[in-house]
Amino acid sequence: MEKAFRTVAVAGLVLACATAISAEPPAGPPSEAQVAARVEALLAKMTLEEKVGQLTQIAGVAFFPGSPKPEEALRKGGAGSVLWLNDIKQFNALQRIAVEESRLKIPVLYGLDVIHGYRTIFPVPLAMAASWDPSVHERAAAVAAKEARAAGIHWTFAPMLDIARDARWGRIVEGAGEDPYLGAAMAAAQVRGFQGPYLGAPDHVLACAKHFAAYGAAEGGRDYDPVYVPEGRLRNVYFPPFEAAVKAGVGSFMSAYMDLNDVPVAGNRWMLTDVLRGEWAFKGFVVSDAMGVGNLTTQGFARDRKDAALRSLSAGLDMEMASGAFPEHLAALVAEGKLTTAAIDTAVKRILAVKVRLGLFEKPYADETRAAQVVGAPEHRTEARLAAQRSLVLLRNENATLPLSKALKSVAVIGPLADSKEATEGSWTVFGHVPAAVTVLEGIRAKLPGATVSYSPGPEIRRLVPSFFDDLVPGAKKPEQPPAEAEAAFQKAVETARGADVVVAVMGELANMSGEAASRASLDLPGRQEELLKAVVALGKPVVLVLVNGRPLSVNWAAGHVNAILEAWEPGSEGGSAVADALFGDVNPGGKLPVGFPRSGAHAPLYYARDLSHQPEGSPMYRSRYWDGETTPLYPFGYGLSYTRFSYANLKLEAPQLKRGQKLAVSVEVTNTGAVAGDEVVQLYVHQRAGSDSRPRRELKGFQRVGLKPGETRTVTLSLGPEELGYWSTSQHNWVQDTEAFDVWAGSDSTAALHADLTVVP
Ligand code: BGC
Repeated sequence: MEKAFRTVAVAGLVLACATAISAEPPAGPPSEAQVAARVEALLAKMTLEEKVGQLTQIAGVAFFPGSPKPEEALRKGGAGSVLWLNDIKQFNALQRIAVEESRLKIPVLYGLDVIHGYRTIFPVPLAMAASWDPSVHERAAAVAAKEARAAGIHWTFAPMLDIARDARWGRIVEGAGEDPYLGAAMAAAQVRGFQGPYLGAPDHVLACAKHFAAYGAAEGGRDYDPVYVPEGRLRNVYFPPFEAAVKAGVGSFMSAYMDLNDVPVAGNRWMLTDVLRGEWAFKGFVVSDAMGVGNLTTQGFARDRKDAALRSLSAGLDMEMASGAFPEHLAALVAEGKLTTAAIDTAVKRILAVKVRLGLFEKPYADETRAAQVVGAPEHRTEARLAAQRSLVLLRNENATLPLSKALKSVAVIGPLADSKEATEGSWTVFGHVPAAVTVLEGIRAKLPGATVSYSPGPEIRRLVPSFFDDLVPGAKKPEQPPAEAEAAFQKAVETARGADVVVAVMGELANMSGEAASRASLDLPGRQEELLKAVVALGKPVVLVLVNGRPLSVNWAAGHVNAILEAWEPGSEGGSAVADALFGDVNPGGKLPVGFPRSGAHAPLYYARDLSHQPEGSPMYRSRYWDGETTPLYPFGYGLSYTRFSYANLKLEAPQLKRGQKLAVSVEVTNTGAVAGDEVVQLYVHQRAGSDSRPRRELKGFQRVGLKPGETRTVTLSLGPEELGYWSTSQHNWVQDTEAFDVWAGSDSTAALHADLTVVP
């Protein structure tokens, strides 16, 4: 990838910029007034073309036919931002053109997708959500920001805040799963981590809340497909993480690609202006998704690219990513009186304000010496290992198979992902990144220096339809494994397992099987993995399945037959070490599922916070909505086991009644009743029994991850108030908090049984 990007390099412009580092930006953020004064002064000098330039983001590589050469665009002030570059020398060379050769010397803003790490790769965001520990996600984002900023990147297109209740949608891997409450907590944590205490804090980057909004509700789980979501559900389910990001001070937003209720978001004024700016008072700028403006024509919304430019800027979109309709048409639209200069100025000011806040005018260049020290620093690997440990979810552990003994003499490690650095790091690492993860095989070998650890990958797995993104990564496209070779690999894996005392099967999905343009109809283990698992279980040895995957998988057979299942997700640079830590008991897994696991892709969307059916839950009619199988999830939302056990008692409300608008403390005692220390995630759920609208059967409204020693009891106190009990009512077309009766539950997953009654009174 890096190579491909370099072919478009700025020939002859590679300068030694480390010597040209300007003074450090002032400590602490400038005031609103200081920012506004600088922006106004600059704006007063700008031509219309230069203004449009600031609203234009171009590709730093020849990605799309006809895309302008960055050096030419920057020299004439024709681009405010460049994306898809990842080379510090090029960053500095192009920046030098912007700040020394362009008329107004406005620095360029470099954006890149730094999703779960720059060089040090953390678990994928879905895994981080499984930690149920926002502080660990915040630290991961802070490390990613530090490395990226040192490497010359100012802006990450993250966090992705799309709630996803359909595991067929590949981008579920980039978000926090199915729940708005957990999603909002993780959203705020990531914004704090990426941006630091204020926008422009040293060692941090500008974050981008994407993809606003409801991209995860694509019909059929098919990426990019239209979304039909009623306003109530938008506001109650899909918006909360975005609003949380605004409250946390996020500096930019990205509009989602898709058509939302027949109005594509890049041209949706209600979304981009009324809600985002009017209701939430968002002060940053909005960028389209790549080609999102041009695509308004494909979506049958805009007549042509000119109409697309007009409609998106008028809707409240400030910067266009990559499609080139703004530079082509905005000036003409102003000349024709279809757009006002004031509308252009508003967007330009938002972008310039962010550049001022980021300190780009004072410090436009990246320091190569510092980058070499910061990027991939050993302490970052330590953080990555901790994050991976905390995101592990123990799904099954029959007869305490895990943890395994370190005195084992022989272990067979099998499966196509056991020694795959790409799969261990997972979906969407930065362009040009060379995978360097510790694999599960390597982690186990390091843990058992005296044992025989044999390895056999079994047959290869692959997408049936290749990914567009494979074209961009050198070596990613591989010919299909010949059937005879696959069969031999299958037999070899079985033989390898036969010779060992314990088998660890590492199975799941390759990195390109989830992520963008990676939707699947089935959620089964791809290829012959399950067949191999069956053959190995038939040997009668203990079999531990380690799942490496970017989405829930319908591992129905494994869930009833293997001895233990550890969900490792795509655990990042230190993933294999963390998995080995858990397999051999140095770490007790304490993560919980941020999304339920359906028994089949055909069950999607399946989520716990659905409204009740007209049949009572548990009745035969209720249970048989599918006549060909269970309707329940294989593993519910919030689920996860531990090497110890926890019991819950004394769920207490401060009072049985709560006045509308006020808050109430809810406490519960949790005890570690097992023999080893462990973490538990205490979860609080509510259900409103009747009201202005029907409400979900359960909704998460509080959680806390706690570590408990054997025998230790902790009282965890959470709080319920208008934020937790209010909602957007479809019948009232407004926010309400009904005075009604509620069920409250606390426990270790979304099936928690410990119950209390609560009534909200006027
Ligand atoms: C994705 C975005 C991403 C952008 C820039 C698009 O295809 O949908 O999530 O930030 O590309 O790489």
